[in-house]
Formats: sequence, structure tokens, C-alpha cells
Amino acid sequence: MQRIPMGVEVKIEQYIEAALGADWKQAQMPRMRDEILKLKKRYWNFSGTSYGMWPTLAYLAYHFPAYYCQMRNVYSNLLSCGIIKEKMRILEVGAGTGAPARAFADFLPEVIQAEYDALEPYDDSVKAMKFILDGANPLCKFNFIEKPIEQFTPTAKYDLILMANVASELRNPEEAISKLMENFIAPGGSLVVVEPAELRISTQLREMQRAFHKKYTVFAPCTYLWGPRCEGRCWSFVQVPDIAPTKLQREISNGEKALMNVDIKYSHFILRKGGAPLKKFRGNPRMDARMMDMERHVERRINLTCAKMSGNLSENTNLFKICDGSARHEHYAVLNPRDVSESNRGLIDAEYGEILRFRNVLVLESKKENAYNLVIGKNTEVERLEKPRLKRKFEDEDGEDF
Ligand SMILES: C[S@@+](CC[C@H](N)C(=O)[O-])C[C@H]1O[C@@H](n2cnc3c(N)ncnc32)[C@H](O)[C@@H]1O
Repeated sequence: MQRIPMGVEVKIEQYIEAALGADWKQAQMPRMRDEILKLKKRYWNFSGTSYGMWPTLAYLAYHFPAYYCQMRNVYSNLLSCGIIKEKMRILEVGAGTGAPARAFADFLPEVIQAEYDALEPYDDSVKAMKFILDGANPLCKFNFIEKPIEQFTPTAKYDLILMANVASELRNPEEAISKLMENFIAPGGSLVVVEPAELRISTQLREMQRAFHKKYTVFAPCTYLWGPRCEGRCWSFVQVPDIAPTKLQREISNGEKALMNVDIKYSHFILRKGGAPLKKFRGNPRMDARMMDMERHVERRINLTCAKMSGNLSENTNLFKICDGSARHEHYAVLNPRDVSESNRGLIDAEYGEILRFRNVLVLESKKENAYNLVIGKNTEVERLEKPRLKRKFEDEDGEDF
């Protein structure tokens, strides 16, 4: 099970203690609980979040650990697909209390040197971030810029721009992304946008991605087998196993679920100017149906190449979102546990974004859900078209560190 490093957990506690006094757990615990609930409510209601002292402390206690682990997972994928390079300049927009920045510094393989510009408009957040980053990896040099993105003009270009859990807080995120892509990205650089998987935020993120999918290269996670042509609602997110709660979160929550933040589900996209996408697969009309034509195939058996675009979405069966980048409606692959076989279990084993080929899959339409269900039967063959990638493990996960 993943957890944040003990040294970071201790720093969070030290910072809160310095702000509220050594006896805060006796004197201020109800206030802390209340502030966490307020912070969550404002965020999910889109009623404007501002980060003064209490929201900053509540953020550290509640959001920081999960966002730290979320971003570590993101960096692991960036490293495995070559985006993290030997010497790099990074800009983080809306760096908050430093969860993505600290995760980056702790994550960096020793051969890599980085200069990291952390842009954050709120003074209380910057103070907390400075404390959290103090003494972190000396190979990662941090610069703190106390400004909103709308007022920032950089002096050099960036190899990597991060927007982690911030796009939905910007007044005009598309305008900000356009500005970043046009003026701030170095040749070969990447812009990574990550947001929580909550329905409204996640589907808005995918709409935003679409606003750019013809202008820039969507490097990941989508594979457009027939060119970028998707439309309609798209709710796709990465899911990783829950993290262990920090000691502080156990104390604050006293078992109350609403005050515990251990699940990691996020939606993301990576844009680049030109160049190839991560997966270079193309559809072949003589071999495969296209999702954009699926209404013609209802109640028929077809062959289809697509990417797996979710974890298992059902407790009772195997249900995965799939997409070939041309869908007008959402598509799901359904595999009843009693029909799992050697020839079709690739659907279950594949990772998020992995390309699969189905042979002999039955198409059903769900009018109620406005979606298509592709039923994987005992005789459906699911072929994994990619070689598995080497993924970085963390010391606190089960298994070996690499
Ligand atoms: C939900 S927090 C995410 C913080 C951090 N990226 C993380 O993942 O923990 C959103 C952050 O975006 C910042 N923010 C809001 N509007 C901004 C703007 N116009 N420019 C830059 N940052 C902004 C907020 O101050 C806040 O720190």
C-alpha cells in the first residue's frame, strides 16, 4: 500500500503545530474538521476557493497526502514514456502547499537535475510550500513565484508544465492552456493537466482536451485510431489502490469517512506541439469496426481495436470503459466473471490506456445509458497489442524499488 514518506508526514504536522500551537489537537480539532468539510464543499460546489491560513492547514491535512501519491503515479508514467529527462525546467501552475512539487523532488532519479518554478498566488500556500520543500532533493532547485498564471511572463521556456488539480479553479482554463502552449513550452516539451475524477470536473477536462486535439498532439492518454473524432460525454479516469491514511488523518477523522482522503482517482491529458502520440496505433477499416459507426453493428458480432480507458467500474461484474477515439457515445466492455477465460482475460489484466483487439464481440445498445455495451463472451478473443511497460515501484509499495 502506498503512503507518503514519514519525513513529509512529520513536516505537515510540524507546520500545523507552528501555526496553531502545540496543543492544537486538544483545542482546535473541531475547527480543523469543520475547515476540511468547508474546503471540500466549496471545491465541489465550484463556489470559489481562497486559501487563507485555515484552508491552507486543512489542505495540508486532508488533500496533501493523496495529491502527493497521485502525482507520484503521474511522474512514474512520465518517466516510463520518456518525458522526464536528464536536465529539465518545470513550471507548475497553482502549486498550492507543494504536494506535486515535493512528490517530484522525492521521485527524481539521481541522474536528473531539475529547475522547478512553482507558481502560486496565495501567500499562505507559498509559506507552507516553502516549509514542505525545505531540505528536499538538492538536485531539484525550486523558485517560488507568487502570482496567478494570468500575470506571469516567464524568462525561459519549459520542458514540462504541470497543472495539477488547478484547471477547474481558473476563470478561463482554455485560455491559460493556449497561452502556455503557445509561449511557454520548449521544443519537445509537454503540458500535463491532471484533475480529480469527479464526474463534472473530469468530463469538463475531457472537453478541454478536445478543444486542443486537432491543434496539438494529444500525447496521452487517448489513442485516436481513426483520427481525433470523439464527441459527447467522456468520463475516463485512472484508478490506483487506496493509500494508507496518515496518522494525522486518522486522528482528525476518528473513523469518519468524509474526513479521510485515501482514494486516488484522476483524469489527465498530456499535450505536445507536434510529434507523435505515445501510442502510434492506427485503425484498419478492413479489420475493425469504428466506434463512430457503432449504431450499424447493434446485435452483431464484430472485431474492434480500442484502448481500455478505466479501471473496473462495477462491483459485480467486469466493466471497463473503452474507446478508439472516434466514439459519439460511451462504450463499455462487459465480461461476466463466469465467462472469464485465458483468451479474454487480457481485458482484466490490461492497464489504463492499453490497446486491445477484440475478435468476435457482441454489440448491445443501452438506450437508458445512451451507451454501447460490448459483451465479451467465452469465445471472444482479447489480444493485448502492446508490450507491458516497466513501471517504477516505490519503497512503501509491495515489491521492489527500481
Ligand atoms: C486544488 S489546489 C491544487 C494545489 C496543488 N497543485 C496540488 O495538487 O496540491 C489549486 C491551486 O491553484 C491555485 N490557483 C487558483 N487560481 C490560480 C491562478 N489564476 N493562477 C495560478 N494558480 C491558481 C490555488 O491558489 C491553489 O493553490
